[in-house]
Amino acid sequence: MDAQVETADTQKSVGHDVPYATANGLEALSGAELRKQVEKLNQIGIALSSETNLERLLGLIVHEARTFTGADAGSLYILDRGMLYFHVTQNDTLRGRAHSLPGFKPYPLPLSEESIAGYVGCTAKILNIENVYNLPKTVPYHFNPDFDLRNDYVTRSMLVVPMKDQGEEILGVLQLINAMDKAGAVVPFQKSVEHLVMSLASQAAVAIRNAKLISDIKAVFESLIRYSISAIDARSPHTAGHSKRVANHCQAIARAINDETSGPFQDISFTTEQMEELIYAAWLHDIGKIGVPERILDKGHKLSDETMATIATRFELIKALSAVSIWKRKLVENKNEPWGDTIEEQVEIERKEIEKDFVFVKKVNRAQSLSREDVTTLRAIGSKTYKDLEGDVRPFLTDQEIESLSVRKGSLTKKEYMKVQTHVEHTYNIVKNVPFTKSLKNVPLFAGSHHEFLDGTGYPRGLKSDELPLQSRILAVADIFDALTALDRPYRSAMPVSKACKILKAHAKAGRLDQDVVNLFIDKELYK
Ligand SMILES: [Fe+2]
Ligand SMILES: [Fe+2]
Repeated sequence: MDAQVETADTQKSVGHDVPYATANGLEALSGAELRKQVEKLNQIGIALSSETNLERLLGLIVHEARTFTGADAGSLYILDRGMLYFHVTQNDTLRGRAHSLPGFKPYPLPLSEESIAGYVGCTAKILNIENVYNLPKTVPYHFNPDFDLRNDYVTRSMLVVPMKDQGEEILGVLQLINAMDKAGAVVPFQKSVEHLVMSLASQAAVAIRNAKLISDIKAVFESLIRYSISAIDARSPHTAGHSKRVANHCQAIARAINDETSGPFQDISFTTEQMEELIYAAWLHDIGKIGVPERILDKGHKLSDETMATIATRFELIKALSAVSIWKRKLVENKNEPWGDTIEEQVEIERKEIEKDFVFVKKVNRAQSLSREDVTTLRAIGSKTYKDLEGDVRPFLTDQEIESLSVRKGSLTKKEYMKVQTHVEHTYNIVKNVPFTKSLKNVPLFAGSHHEFLDGTGYPRGLKSDELPLQSRILAVADIFDALTALDRPYRSAMPVSKACKILKAHAKAGRLDQDVVNLFIDKELYK
């Protein structure tokens, strides 16, 4: 190891760095003590290597280093593009005063020799300082007393160690403050621990490098999910932003569950990984809509604008042909109409009737719900006929048009609705092929069951309550709420929150949605 040490003794001669192996006083440790320390170091190394959550890892490093050296406080800085970013601070004395570092606002330090941490980050040397208020005038760094002044704390001894990985790259700086003796008095850091803390810092650096790598990969994966799902949702203005909102609702519900100290959720607490698993499932739950044609997803009315334009042209033709037919009967075939009106009156009566029919068709096309009578009237109009220019008899509306217009609720035909429902199967098949890590293994299950109901009436598999974990129940509530309240939903217009809450409650009462989740969601207004 080429690390170098500046101790309280060597501060007087900065620049004359003493190689660690000869200056750290390691020889002062007995063989048994050394073995004990190395054994402890190994244990710490194992603990560090198994922690992949970066924030938890940083906290663990400071904690272990403090325990190892008997330090009252400790901080950790991570180096990023020439700046040292403060990440963790632990301070037993201040914690004992029942406040958590008030008045302390972490700020990034430039990587320069002017600050203690910056100096260590620049030079890769260890600093072992007996009293930070008594630094020799010859050293380039100085101690900033801001923290002490604001918190009524006195920093004295300090052991500051660079965190280098195997490639000797400095990833950060570990700063240990105020070594305590058994009586609780502040003492200088023992030289004997320097080597061991340096080893710990190296192990920590490798763990940080790995955790950062995992965190970077995760960030790329997450942004890929967010962008691709947002693009899929945006295929239709009716679903734009849906998955993001559902993920937000799920997160709000899960956090609220974690905060519950009484009631049905008092013993339930989602870990960070479980939270992550739920949020991934929420983001991905409708990815299968990629397999549903846009014309169905985006269907606002029963018939497309193009089809309605064709029908409008047809009705204009019918009106013209009707007038021609009346004139033909009167003039060419010389037949009197039984009711004895003038030709103009007869043409007008027919024209008005045809126009009335078309107005009804237009109304039906946009209606969110139809009565049985509406459907009967529609079929009667559709079955009327006219003779086209070739003399062929044709209906006012085709069978296909009647089928689409006869939908009594919403705008999708049964076939189209079934097509939309297939998105859940597609979601499951897509998501189950993503090589998720072990902690995310349930994402396909949660995402693929967001349309299941507790009473088995949901789809696609008709799962029942004992097969539906809490996460699937949360996702179902969040999904239905957003589907109801989203603006411009094609087969349902947006509804006020109060009405959506009533519907959720009705679903819960009927045993379809989880009552406790619905109550929590509504009572705590988590949709906000
Ligand atoms: Fe869905
Ligand atoms: Fe959805």
